Amino acid sequence: MLENLTARPADKILALMAAYKADPRTEKVDLGVGVYKDASGNTPVMRAVKEAERRILADQSTKAYTGLAGDPAFGAAMRDLVLGDSVPAERIAAIATPGGTGAIRQALELIRIAAPQATVWLSNPTWPNHPSILKYLGMNMAEYTYFDSVTRDVNFDGMLADLRQVAKGDVVLLHGCCHNPTGANLTYDQMSQVIEILQEKGAVPFIDIAYQGFGDGLDADALITRQIARAFDNVLIAASCSKNFGVYRERTGVLMAIAKDADQQALTQQNLAFLNRQNYSFPPDHGARVVTTILTDPGLRADWEAELEETRNGMLALRQQLADELKRLTNSDRFDFIAQHRGMFSRLGATPEQVEEMRETHGIYMVGDSRINVAGLNADSVPILARAIVDAGV
Ligand code: LMR
Repeated sequence: MLENLTARPADKILALMAAYKADPRTEKVDLGVGVYKDASGNTPVMRAVKEAERRILADQSTKAYTGLAGDPAFGAAMRDLVLGDSVPAERIAAIATPGGTGAIRQALELIRIAAPQATVWLSNPTWPNHPSILKYLGMNMAEYTYFDSVTRDVNFDGMLADLRQVAKGDVVLLHGCCHNPTGANLTYDQMSQVIEILQEKGAVPFIDIAYQGFGDGLDADALITRQIARAFDNVLIAASCSKNFGVYRERTGVLMAIAKDADQQALTQQNLAFLNRQNYSFPPDHGARVVTTILTDPGLRADWEAELEETRNGMLALRQQLADELKRLTNSDRFDFIAQHRGMFSRLGATPEQVEEMRETHGIYMVGDSRINVAGLNADSVPILARAIVDAGV
């Protein structure tokens, strides 16, 4: 049987992680996978997470199964965090999932059941796992223009032109904030225009929000998601807790489906629970319980928000430092986009050859499309990166 298997292409981001580990140079810089690192290169367990875990360890009296949708308190807490009061709770179906990827996978499976002919539209570029899962599931996909490689901003006219090709019932995947891999984001007004087109076309928005709190703040980063939630009968939202709670390996995420009314919500909830049962039965609980504990305890929540703000402001400062350093070295403002981008990532606009050169000569690891993880930098490595960018002729 196993002789029938064929080799799979390695995931670019994960392959880069391995290449970095194998590099013996001590002065190497890892700007690859999207994991937050502090100035000393550590990925800390957040203070509120430690405390929530301590409480759970002390108080938890059973490890019996929760429910197929996970603990309803987790669904409610995440609903409030992501959607605020934009949509009545009775319209929102939710399941806990193994991370944001689990939520994306379940959303796509839901689409496959409910609208098997629908085309799922992805931004070009997008997180590589989006097309990879779609392809694996054998679903129809198409791309819409997103990035302008000259300005390193959103190519908004190109985006609108492509979205005008969307057919009724198609699904359009949008990044809720902190676009991965580019770092370039739509404004609220631009999103209003996108919403108008999608409404006109009868499309269904699907939002992937994996970096809430990493851009302009917890509520500011949810604005676009809430704006879309208010505007459509049906919206799918995959939210990850990996980054903003730093619980990467606990696999904590949620899929929310906004239904037209309470009856449709009940039907959707039942289908989502069914999908969990088919794929892994009960979703993981530990990370979800940690998140719920933090979000529902005012003291822990305040501490988590404070630490998240430190993280966010640290990344913004690194962006500014890098943009300033590049301005100094090049005597131009063509790298100012780095300070304007938001989230963990920026796409520099370097060619694959330039990316390779920066790796070989300076030990700087970034994804082949020139996506850098800003959190992989610190005040000492920013000048090294700036010098490498200039030397490579980016
Ligand atoms: C990334 O884009 O680097 C992260 O989302 C991690 C991953 O799983 O690819």
